[in-house]
Amino acid sequence: MVSTSAPIGVFDSGIGGLTVAGALLRQLPHERLIYFGDTARVPYGPKSPDTVRRYAHEISAWLIDQGVKAIVVACNTATAHALPSLQRELPVPVIGVVEPGARAAVAAGPGPIGVIGTAGTIASGAYAKAIWQVAPDATIVSQACPLFVPLAEEGLFDHPATRLIAREYLAPLLAAHVHTVVLGCTHYPMLRTVLAEVLGPEVTLIDSASATASATAATLAQLQMAATSPSPGVHRFVASDAPAQFLRLGQRFLGAAIERVETVTLG
Ligand code: DGL
Repeated sequence: MVSTSAPIGVFDSGIGGLTVAGALLRQLPHERLIYFGDTARVPYGPKSPDTVRRYAHEISAWLIDQGVKAIVVACNTATAHALPSLQRELPVPVIGVVEPGARAAVAAGPGPIGVIGTAGTIASGAYAKAIWQVAPDATIVSQACPLFVPLAEEGLFDHPATRLIAREYLAPLLAAHVHTVVLGCTHYPMLRTVLAEVLGPEVTLIDSASATASATAATLAQLQMAATSPSPGVHRFVASDAPAQFLRLGQRFLGAAIERVETVTLG
């Protein structure tokens, strides 16, 4: 049995999942995290489901070797393609970001729901399935926004280029009069200012980070695996490449300081 003071593993294709890690740190201050950003292989969005699934299993195996007690898949693309197989094969609980985000979108009120994400997430239909599970009559308008990830990874959070591309991508959602838009990629919360400006004040933006942190807290509590006092040690941040870029932008995604980034090569 893994100790309650063991760390929680969190991973993403890059630094986007730090938005989820930030929410975990705020909601679960006793827990210690090991965050893995697969910066050598980002982006996952355009890659095939099989490739993303292989990456997700490689990272999870490494996290299990580090002694984690649970894994949070802080990447919508990896959740969409790999969550069922990770949950089937890993010896620890695995929490994804899609279902908590879908539930939060339905809870935001009636009306058409927009979903934006990477090409892989949108093509998988994972959000539509998760939303229809809780609201079978919901109208959903989905839109892949492949350029948002590089814009966020470049730190162009509030930039004319981001605004121009957002107007193009979000036009079908505006035409459908969506009342809620799910930010179905963990990089997108960094573009929130521009997205809110283009969509207008009537539209509620759902960021699955805090919903995922709540789902993680509930899972740990239910399994009696939550840390009861501050876990020993420090949070670890690991990148598969380019740790300097991770460190430079990562703190803005996390909303807290990152002292050090380790480099680990997988595959
Ligand atoms: N941040 C990731 C997601 O939530 C993936 C971005 C990418 O690697 O394309 O889908």
